[in-house]
Amino acid sequence: MTTLLIGATGMLKTAAAHAVARAKKAVVLSRHAKDFSLGSDTLDVKLTRISQSYENGAAFIDAVARYAPYDLALTWIRPQAEILRAAIDGMIVPGGRLVEVMGSRSILLGENGEASIAERRAQALALQPDITYSQVILGFVLEGDGSRWLTHEEISAAAIAQMEKPQARLIAGVLEPWERRPQ
Ligand SMILES: NC(=O)c1ccc[n+]([C@@H]2O[C@H](COP(=O)([O-])OP(=O)(O)OC[C@H]3O[C@@H](n4cnc5c(N)ncnc54)[C@H](OP(=O)(O)O)[C@@H]3O)[C@@H](O)[C@H]2O)c1
Repeated sequence: MTTLLIGATGMLKTAAAHAVARAKKAVVLSRHAKDFSLGSDTLDVKLTRISQSYENGAAFIDAVARYAPYDLALTWIRPQAEILRAAIDGMIVPGGRLVEVMGSRSILLGENGEASIAERRAQALALQPDITYSQVILGFVLEGDGSRWLTHEEISAAAIAQMEKPQARLIAGVLEPWERRPQ
């Protein structure tokens, strides 16, 4: 079966390598995916690389659909992109897994008090109980009087944990106290 990797060529590279090692094939999409290497011939040979921006919604969905279905998807998509996310949900096999990495603000309420994107996605996936859905919410690390953002390895470790032992939501680092986030 095939693994889908979106936005996984940067901070999620170690998590991508972990997923590809356990997959027969993997499809990697990002703006510069054609140049992407996991640094290992045995892993790279499994990759289908597609240079495409998720800002270009319809073309991006077409490109993802070309290699569907997927038994595992790992995504880091910055915009809320709910249409794209819903399209991806429909390309995961029954019994498959979806791990979505989201920024710190993804669990804040919307301007008019509407549910957060993280909550809306959890609700949408609750309607697809045949998919194991898990989120990684990126937080920060408190250090002494200050704080720092997560390292790429810390972010990848959280994504790997969600691939191996999925929980509904894993906060990588902390989100509280919010006023102590790195400025
Ligand atoms: N705590 C937080 O909320 C939070 C949130 C975000 C980031 N951060 C920090 O910021 C650092 C870097 O963040 P980053 O977003 O630059 O992460 P990154 O994972 O290093 O890079 C972004 C990933 O998304 C892809 N991408 C970006 N725009 C895209 C588009 N329009 N279409 C398709 N793919 C796209 C990139 O590949 P291409 O360039 O090839 O498109 C790459 O794979 C992290 O180390 C993290 O600590 C913290």
